Amino acid sequence: MCRAVFLLALTVLVCPAAEALDNGLALKPTMGWLHWERFMCNTDCDKDPNNCISERLYMQMADVMVKEGWKEAGYEYVCIDDCWPSHQRDAKGRLQADPKRFPGGIKKLADYVHSKGLKLGIYADVGKNTCAGYPGSLGYYETDAQTFADWDVDLLKFDGCYMDWKLLGEGYMNMSRALNKTGRSILYSCEWPLYEWPYKQPDYKAIRETCNHWRNFADVYDSWSSIKSILDWTASHQDIIVPSAGPGGWNDPDMLVIGNFGLSHDQQESQMALWAIMAAPLLVSNDLRDICPRSKKLLQNTDIIAISQDPLGKQGLCTIKMDSFEVWERPLSKKRLAIALLNTQEIGGPRGFFIRAAPGWKICDPQCNVTQILPQYKELGVQTPHTKLVVSVNPSGTTLLTVTPTSDYAGLIL
Ligand code: GLA
Repeated sequence: MCRAVFLLALTVLVCPAAEALDNGLALKPTMGWLHWERFMCNTDCDKDPNNCISERLYMQMADVMVKEGWKEAGYEYVCIDDCWPSHQRDAKGRLQADPKRFPGGIKKLADYVHSKGLKLGIYADVGKNTCAGYPGSLGYYETDAQTFADWDVDLLKFDGCYMDWKLLGEGYMNMSRALNKTGRSILYSCEWPLYEWPYKQPDYKAIRETCNHWRNFADVYDSWSSIKSILDWTASHQDIIVPSAGPGGWNDPDMLVIGNFGLSHDQQESQMALWAIMAAPLLVSNDLRDICPRSKKLLQNTDIIAISQDPLGKQGLCTIKMDSFEVWERPLSKKRLAIALLNTQEIGGPRGFFIRAAPGWKICDPQCNVTQILPQYKELGVQTPHTKLVVSVNPSGTTLLTVTPTSDYAGLIL
């Protein structure tokens, strides 16, 4: 799985990613909030007014995003997922929001979100129905794209349920063109490869030309086994998917579930670190109105967000698996490197990793400067290829480092 990674890393460095969808969006991985994992298809506003899919939920999230530092940290998009529309289109064939749960309609909601300096995302489906059985866009791509543009929506998540897999490519490309034709900048989030993988290897060149990010693998759940399965899938398909990521288009391993119920704090740190290494969209799905301070601090950690949003725009890789450790490395701007050390042994206590075993450590020749970002911020100082430095990693936790090569000779030469 992690073999031949250096060849791949070289290829990634030498060959720039293929043409991205040319809409000027997602030059860095998208950041925001998305309702699905936490709130799902809860439409019962009589019994559960606080958590049902309604305009109130998004307005409250937008309020909190501004008040509690999320916007300042970079989280920008407030995104609606499935279950927002009425079961019927209107007399002109347009989608309409459920009138009881969205009495103001989507345009008003977009105005509200924009008044907070944030952006609004919406959800639709390339097929006959959405995954939860609401009207799909098949046969209505232009109408729906125009409706979303008229509502001043800023992002579309386009699902792939209820669609003949052979028509997926055509459908996703047609919607991309329809969005473009509206003249509004609408970030386009696809699930095309996820629905194609069971039948054929997706054409990532075409996907990158069509979408701003794309889901490859199953839905994330609020559990460590779900996070692990996403990481395993990514590592075992990295030669295919990593080269397609870059400014304008990203692989999407699905939402961050940090701040919910299923992950220990170490596991939450692992998700945050690895999503940053994978240059993944950072779309959190939790209840921002009620989140524990430690999870909030992790999600707002500026050093990790800086790795995620690094201007070089290269997705990282799993470079080695050894002794129940996984090493994931992402090249950063200014020749720096982020290294995530994941301890996959779910028994026992913290274990030491001999840092010079990380394949990317070669950039420490002759010297480098190392900073530990997780679990605590710590300057680890100047290191060499022969360092004896051992870093500690908790079970199912991740120690995240940044490494900056220092050319100590430069001073002497000058
Ligand atoms: C699919 C998608 C999820 C979510 C649901 C909504 O499963 O992959 O992310 O949008 O549909 O029904």
